[in-house]
Amino acid sequence: MSPTIPHWSPRPSPPPSPVLWVTGAGGLIGHHLVAAATALNRWQVRPLARDDLNLLDPAAVAERFQRDRPAVILHCAALSKTPACQTDPILAHRTNVEVTRHLAELAGEGRFVFFSTDLIFDGRRGHYAENSPPNPLHVYGETKVAAETAVRVHPRHLIVRTSLNYGVSPTGDRSFAEEMLLAVRAGQTLSLFNDEFRSPITVADTVTTVLELLTAAATGTYHVAGGDRLSRWEIGELVAEHHPELRGQLRSASRRSYLGPPRAPDTTLDCGKTERFLGRNLPGLRERLGTRTANQ
Ligand SMILES: NC(=O)c1ccc[n+]([C@@H]2O[C@H](COP(=O)([O-])OP(=O)(O)OC[C@H]3O[C@@H](n4cnc5c(N)ncnc54)[C@H](OP(=O)(O)O)[C@@H]3O)[C@@H](O)[C@H]2O)c1
Repeated sequence: MSPTIPHWSPRPSPPPSPVLWVTGAGGLIGHHLVAAATALNRWQVRPLARDDLNLLDPAAVAERFQRDRPAVILHCAALSKTPACQTDPILAHRTNVEVTRHLAELAGEGRFVFFSTDLIFDGRRGHYAENSPPNPLHVYGETKVAAETAVRVHPRHLIVRTSLNYGVSPTGDRSFAEEMLLAVRAGQTLSLFNDEFRSPITVADTVTTVLELLTAAATGTYHVAGGDRLSRWEIGELVAEHHPELRGQLRSASRRSYLGPPRAPDTTLDCGKTERFLGRNLPGLRERLGTRTANQ
């Protein structure tokens, strides 16, 4: 009798992990999101910087979408600086609103995560909740309000409103700390308002929190910002603790002496909804950067 030869059927290969797009991958938050999402090992992460795909070309975007079929889009690309939007409102509207609407439509039943800003508020009150009425003072904020409205049509949207993000960008010129360093290196002394308040957060905390919200299937609008209410001047002092070349180059100033276009005095964000959803507090910049100030 010939021996029985065991029959081996090849083990079926696991299905490929879903594709995740990160637009604006060459920018501050997108760059860090790519690294953090890749480390989670749940998705095939596709970083999309401007050189990979110009989002202002709808045909190219649709063609790339059909090819990749992303299950998740983390939409970080934007004209993200207030002065640039003020200078070119048409480009700001195309980039921040029309591109966002197109991507949200393409996303269909997939997840769509949009980054918005504390600057949709006029800053007269501060400590804004997700359902506080927006009242932007400039083009940048207006485009973000319009984009939020377009995104809310999408069934599985997640709108993340964040504040000033502290961190290192691939181009070295995107975060507020990098802008301060570049200005000082150019010979400027910086006047920082001691009576204008934000909720700064590290970019590492932003991306960790956004990925937590995403994996916990959060939908709707969430505030993701630091737990401290800090003036521009206090933020500058904290940053200077880590960048000695800023020391002696910062001046405390008051908004009362300011004569330029309108600025929101207090756009701090109430992150209670996010903290309750995740069951943890969002750390402030003082906790993350403070050395002297952390213990005061
Ligand atoms: N960082 C913050 O403090 C902060 C605070 C509140 C809200 N947000 C929001 O968070 C999101 C990410 O911010 P961020 O700080 O990472 O912005 P960022 O550093 O300015 O990055 C935005 C990226 O979008 C890219 N982009 C712009 N137009 C594009 C186009 N037509 N095609 C392809 N790419 C394009 C830019 O490319 P180029 O570099 O080539 O221009 C840039 O790499 C934005 O929606 C922003 O409004 C950021």
